[in-house]
Amino acid sequence: MWSLNKGLVAGFLTCTLGSLWCARCVAQESQQSADPWWKHAVIYEIYPRSFQDSNGDGIGDLNGITQRLDYLKDLGVDAIWIAPCYPSPQVDFGYDISDYQNIDPMYGTLADFDRLTAEAKKRNIRVIMDAVLNHTSDKHAWFTESASSRTNPKSDWYVWRDGKGPGQPPNNWLSTFGHSAWQFNPKRDQYYYHYFYIQQPDLNWRNPEVENAVFNMLRFWLDRGVAGFRLDAIPTLFEDPSLKDEKVLPGKNKFGDPNESTELQENLPECHDVIRRMRSMADTYPDNRVLIGETYLPNVEELDKWYGGEKHDELDLPMDMQVGFEPKLDANEFRKRISDAETKIHGSHPLFVFDNHDNPRSAYRYGDGVHNKAIDQMLATILFTTRSTALMYYGDEIEMPTTVPTSKAQVKDPIGITGWPKEKGRDGERTPMQWNGSTAAGFSTNPKTWLPVAADYKRVNVEAESKDPDSMLNWYKKLIALRRSNPALHDGEMKMLDVGNQQVVAWSRTAPDGKVIVVACSFTAQPQVVSFDTALGGSGKTATTLAASGGAGQKNAVNLNSVSLAAFGSIVAEVN
Ligand code: NOJ
Repeated sequence: MWSLNKGLVAGFLTCTLGSLWCARCVAQESQQSADPWWKHAVIYEIYPRSFQDSNGDGIGDLNGITQRLDYLKDLGVDAIWIAPCYPSPQVDFGYDISDYQNIDPMYGTLADFDRLTAEAKKRNIRVIMDAVLNHTSDKHAWFTESASSRTNPKSDWYVWRDGKGPGQPPNNWLSTFGHSAWQFNPKRDQYYYHYFYIQQPDLNWRNPEVENAVFNMLRFWLDRGVAGFRLDAIPTLFEDPSLKDEKVLPGKNKFGDPNESTELQENLPECHDVIRRMRSMADTYPDNRVLIGETYLPNVEELDKWYGGEKHDELDLPMDMQVGFEPKLDANEFRKRISDAETKIHGSHPLFVFDNHDNPRSAYRYGDGVHNKAIDQMLATILFTTRSTALMYYGDEIEMPTTVPTSKAQVKDPIGITGWPKEKGRDGERTPMQWNGSTAAGFSTNPKTWLPVAADYKRVNVEAESKDPDSMLNWYKKLIALRRSNPALHDGEMKMLDVGNQQVVAWSRTAPDGKVIVVACSFTAQPQVVSFDTALGGSGKTATTLAASGGAGQKNAVNLNSVSLAAFGSIVAEVN
């Protein structure tokens, strides 16, 4: 939004200097006052290993994604974020990049990528790349050079330090993937720092050459037409240079290490300088290239800083992990967190996310085993009818399950091996997309897929759900279509209703022409009756149901004096 204002100011100055009025100025102004595309977007995360395999090797690929673009178009997706598909030893399944400017042969070629982007564009779908900037693979040429001596030209491109003494790392810092964050390198007789796996050495962002090289790499993709980036683990770019020990806290973590604070290892203020410069660089490109941040932060005040606070000069959409990863399905907590996102980010635009490739899917986290579908439908109502940009994860739309490995021998994700059995890894949420009831769920012609297809694929799949009007897939399509077509849901102001209610979270959205939509979501298995008529301007008011979930058998017309919600039900209704 800041870039829009900046554009307007620049246009105004040019024009007033030339003449008091010019047609170009008016045209530019009306064009620029349009919202950036990402503001109303539905963004769909694709984990490329698991979406669609086109060559029968049991692993998804770019041509597979291209084959499924019509499906995504039909669902109503505006942009896809593809998790890393660059050359990689695949220790962290692509988040360990050995060449930023190419495509891993397992996923295809740069020509396949260009074809995917071009085909997506024909369908009005944008492509967002995953930018992993905190670390590279230890097989990246930059690291090989950096590790070769203490004097090579890239010797300072990574975070190298002497140990405290023989066999002793520089300090007590831990890797978030388990054990010491320092790895000894005999050639340099020094340790390098890795916040993630040993094979993911951290780049040294205090060296301007690193920023320069990384920004050039980002330009490579922007020049190729990508719509922007999802910035991986962006709060971890910098570490405290003092290298003081982190505070040791009581207890042990799931890897058996002592619990420690991470304040010297993440969310350092220096990150923001880099992001501001990145923002300026991205703004030199047309079409509002988007910068999305993977921002797990303790609260919304911290999140606000990643937008640039009132200056709005940093990320467009740092992910709000407060709402979708709230630990309990609790109406008061959800209301508070949704309201915080509405009111405490200096007018920036929230990005809600409930699922991704790093966490068990929301049905698994919030399900009670009886009402899982109703709960998931209700969460989708929150995602698509609040004012936020919506980020969804492949398979959410068909209620794909989380299939947690049952033995250590099954685990593919290395953290599940290091941390077994307390940490079982992330395989559960990464299983192949379930397209139909045939071999490998239509994901691959090869029955041996990289992770097993989930057991319920004969029932839970795109083909079966397309035919069922009450399916999750059709619920998603309905909400996404409403969000697009209804002016109040598209862009209307949002106001919380009935804020004392312990079981139901409700809000209104008001369109510029005054039309009001009311949304109510129940957080309990007990049927609820709620009343909104006073808040909406008078008793006896009725509304027309646009969508309702939870099996309440909602009538077309509801009396706002008594709106019934079934167990974990939700309703979207237009006030008459
Ligand atoms: C966050 C990614 O989402 C996760 O999958 C990855 O393991 C870490 N960053 C390290 O890149």
